[in-house]
Amino acid sequence: MSGHTPPRLRLGVNIDHVATIRNARGGEHPDPVRAAQIVAAVGGDGITAHLREDRRHIRDEDIARIQAATNLPLNFEMAATEEMVEIALRHRPHAACIVPERREERTTEGGLDAAGQHNRLAPVIARLNDAGIRVSLFIAPEPRQIEAAIRLGAPVVELHTGEYAHAAGEQVTVELKRLTDMAALAAKNGIEPHAGHGLTYDNVQPVAAIPHLAELNIGHFLIGEAVFVGLESAVRRMRELMDAAR
Ligand code: PXP
Repeated sequence: MSGHTPPRLRLGVNIDHVATIRNARGGEHPDPVRAAQIVAAVGGDGITAHLREDRRHIRDEDIARIQAATNLPLNFEMAATEEMVEIALRHRPHAACIVPERREERTTEGGLDAAGQHNRLAPVIARLNDAGIRVSLFIAPEPRQIEAAIRLGAPVVELHTGEYAHAAGEQVTVELKRLTDMAALAAKNGIEPHAGHGLTYDNVQPVAAIPHLAELNIGHFLIGEAVFVGLESAVRRMRELMDAAR
């Protein structure tokens, strides 16, 4: 082994789906702000929220409320649109994770094509960087996407773990190797690698064991599990599994 000491793996909790449940009835309950406070109380390292074009979960007014509710850094997931850049510049979250967004998709199904969209992304990243917002690109674990992130000057990439989460049999090992290799390639080039999407108690540990990863962002499973055991217990259990894997 290289003797590389892995950084402490941070856990960012995506609270979007608390807002999804709230929005199902159009009222105020359950409030994602309360979820953020519980995540903070239980030792989570960050809050992630995705303001979608259709506002299907987090809404505009939630952003400032979530920021005010805790001292945790907000990782603001956003499409690379003028509307979202303006919102990010207004709220100045700790980080902005640029994700692809298709209106009909149920969730963020694939990674951002950073390689194919250089000219569209470059000014967006520059404006966010200039405002002191830490830019992250949500990309597939592929060399060409990491190379594009390097050219674009992104300080962070978040590797999409969806393919890994959906893999079966021998494909699991293949996907895990892609994540491991791409985390190493990013780190070697001075980019901090994060990972997320589709992670659960059952599949988180091999990802948490990848030495260069600095952060995992986990949402849907934790909020679903919280229905049964409470958010506090769900986050605690995920944290324990992550720690045990390192
Ligand atoms: N990271 C990013 C960039 C995401 O867009 C999402 C949710 O879509 C997540 C992490 C969390 O994924 P999940 O909800 O499947 O845990």
